[in-house]
Amino acid sequence: MKIRLPICFLQLTLLIIGCYNFSLSQTHFTRLGNADVRSFDEGWLFSRYGLQADGSRREEPQNVIEQPGYNDKNWQRIDLPHDWAITGPFRIELAGETGKLPWKGIGWYRKHFVVPVADQNKRIFVDFDGAMAYAQLWLNGKFIGTWPYGYASFRMDLTPYLQFGKENILAVRLDTENWDSRWYPGAGIYRHVWLVKTNAVHVDHWGTYVTTPKINPQSATVNIAVTVSNQSNKPVKTILRTRIFQAGIGNTLKRQVATTKDAVVNIKAGENSIVQTNATIANPKCWDIENPNRYFAQTQILINGKIADTYYSTFGVRSLKFTAYNGFLLNGKRVDIKGTCNHHDLGSLGTAINASALRRQLQLLKDMGCNALRTSHNPPAPELLELADEMGFLVWDEAFDTWEKGKKKNDYNKLFKDWHEKDLVAMIHRDRNHPSVFIWSIGNEVMDQRNVALTKHLADIVKREDSTRPVSNGYNDPDGGREVGAAMALDVMGVNYFFGQQPSWDKDSRYANMPTIGSETSSCVSSRGEYFFGKEYQNWQVTSYDVAKPGWGCSPDEQFRTNARLPNLLGEFVWTGFDYLGEPTPYGSDETNLLNFRTDPSKQQELKEKLEEMRKNNPPSRSSYFGIIDLAGFPKDRYYLYQAHWRPNFPMAHILPHWNWKERIDSIVPVNVYTSGNEAELFLNGKSLGRRSKKEGRDFRLVWDSVVYTPGELKVIAYKNCKQWATDVVKTTGEAAKLTLTCNRKEISNDGRDLAFITVFVQDKEGLTVPRSNPLLQFEIEGPGEIIATDNGDATSFESFQSKQKHAFNGMALIVVKANKGMSGNIIVTANAKLLNSGQVVIPVRSGEKEE
Ligand code: GAL
Repeated sequence: MKIRLPICFLQLTLLIIGCYNFSLSQTHFTRLGNADVRSFDEGWLFSRYGLQADGSRREEPQNVIEQPGYNDKNWQRIDLPHDWAITGPFRIELAGETGKLPWKGIGWYRKHFVVPVADQNKRIFVDFDGAMAYAQLWLNGKFIGTWPYGYASFRMDLTPYLQFGKENILAVRLDTENWDSRWYPGAGIYRHVWLVKTNAVHVDHWGTYVTTPKINPQSATVNIAVTVSNQSNKPVKTILRTRIFQAGIGNTLKRQVATTKDAVVNIKAGENSIVQTNATIANPKCWDIENPNRYFAQTQILINGKIADTYYSTFGVRSLKFTAYNGFLLNGKRVDIKGTCNHHDLGSLGTAINASALRRQLQLLKDMGCNALRTSHNPPAPELLELADEMGFLVWDEAFDTWEKGKKKNDYNKLFKDWHEKDLVAMIHRDRNHPSVFIWSIGNEVMDQRNVALTKHLADIVKREDSTRPVSNGYNDPDGGREVGAAMALDVMGVNYFFGQQPSWDKDSRYANMPTIGSETSSCVSSRGEYFFGKEYQNWQVTSYDVAKPGWGCSPDEQFRTNARLPNLLGEFVWTGFDYLGEPTPYGSDETNLLNFRTDPSKQQELKEKLEEMRKNNPPSRSSYFGIIDLAGFPKDRYYLYQAHWRPNFPMAHILPHWNWKERIDSIVPVNVYTSGNEAELFLNGKSLGRRSKKEGRDFRLVWDSVVYTPGELKVIAYKNCKQWATDVVKTTGEAAKLTLTCNRKEISNDGRDLAFITVFVQDKEGLTVPRSNPLLQFEIEGPGEIIATDNGDATSFESFQSKQKHAFNGMALIVVKANKGMSGNIIVTANAKLLNSGQVVIPVRSGEKEE
């Protein structure tokens, strides 16, 4: 339930006597930042030039598309966020590294809009949360600016060329032809866009910086530095005030808990002024990962007693301490980092941001015990940080994958000289109030990681903009980076994969006091539901026994052993939580793979030969195998290996593989059990196959490696400290007989964004999901909604993500449904397949904003 504040008696009295400007509508706001903000997502026109989806070229007319009179009547109507490439088609000849999708091209967007005459004394801005890539913008034919880095958020001032009361045309040109990537970057205005109106005197873009330098159980000091901008042509005298509220559900202000003293601020015409203010919260509720208590700061500028601007910021009262000998302390308590790295795509939805899809992803990670996210290798969508604040995740917020030296031809290196400072500052100013952000990362495996001066230069920029969080950098040459002293500029050492020399660095006087984190670990690969015997790879799939890994990687268990051996490590970020589009290692042939062995020429040579061989075979693989969870959002077995280790107090046991091995009767099928218990007994058809126990710090799975296959029932009983703790059962199933559908939500909102994720299970008549069943499924929908995507988690499937039919992959498929905006009723989704009973699910649609 959304909580709306009742107007209390005092507020009401003050309102009546006119000296209190707090109105009921301000108990809720649309997004952080200036209060008068509207979504600018709807009603854009789009046309694609340059490279087309089928590989042909369409010539881009020069110097005309941005002109107001340009004829865009036949352009495609779209709403943002929009990823122009996710509609494919997948093309075998395109690079697997970027998903075999046709994302390269020139995209033009035009929006016709009117701003009323009543606003003509206002400043009008447009805020882009992100546009891929090389955005150039024109308003009414006049160039207003550019922001090339596709992962950066930026603001453009429309005021100088805006015609109030008349039609305006905003034209945006994007170019992904001159951008290269090691993963699927998507293409288009793939994040939200906002129209912001302010008075001439207002809080500047990302104009608050909230910190909590002193915290104790009785009180917390909140410092709020506010940048006030006077874009008028005369000096002004303003009063600045910030009220602090406890956060309610959604963006609601629950209860006022503190206020700053009114600050009188005089600002000259055309200038900005940074004003330091502070407040004290009594008995603060700290933010942590279990109780993510947030506060909202509502900053107001008053001129002659009238509100000139209202601005919202989120923050949390929490302390961070990073130690070399006692791990990471959140509010004084040690928290081991159980993190995952993730790229920004949302699987079949592509890169178009959707908070509902992201929430589903984060909930799956949370249930696994993951407590931290690394935004590899770029600043995330703002929604990720809002959800992380709200759900209780720590975030390693990362700026770049390259610095001066590129990994691919057209990497960020092309932008670095002119843009690195602007992009870093944009990330920090946008993100520095979020309690979830706990580390700033200046890079990932950059080619210049041994560059002492450059590392220091970047770290200095970060510290200048925010000194309350440490600076790190993900090294895949951690020994080289430390040897030359580049890593000395960091506060936390980030090690990707190579921990071999860690004990000697812990003794090196330069690094002995520097905390170390596994910024990237494991890189285990697997395909959900695939199990191979005596080999790891087959048919462009990878076994799910969770042992396969590239040469630089290790199994999850091996990493757990490393962590146990190096107890001072702050923890790890596993590569990756979710499968993502692109980088289909071990079936990718991208030369950048060689960078993983930059200090080992013999391993490089060996890999080079493999990549050449791979190129000849032209694999169909178009998405990664690294995920603990597959591209459709279905947990692989590995999910339970992490859950067992990361949630030791959560009783669980998980058996693998499935038990349908007709062709292996009387042959050996090894059985693994993942459990948060420390012992387990396995039974096949009621007969004990023995009890196994884990040795602390050494074993993370229990293995019965000589089980002779007989159909029937495999059951495990797990024990913890000699007491029964959890069980799991796997049975040989009958033939596929029916389809069963389940939905992740009881109801969805008709706000045009909320999504339902429906899982289709292929089952036998007893209701057991049939492994290795891949029938062609047909989907139908009735009622006020549409199917916007389908998937099955198969990294080699070329079936369109928008298709209403899909093969199941190992007994499962996914349907993503959106309710039509403003409509209500019941959505009915049906799945059909030849010779199988159909399955159905009903999703009620609720009016109004989403409530979780
Ligand atoms: C790392 C790199 C990641 C990803 C990963 C695959 O070296 O930082 O972006 O490529 O390897 O194992």
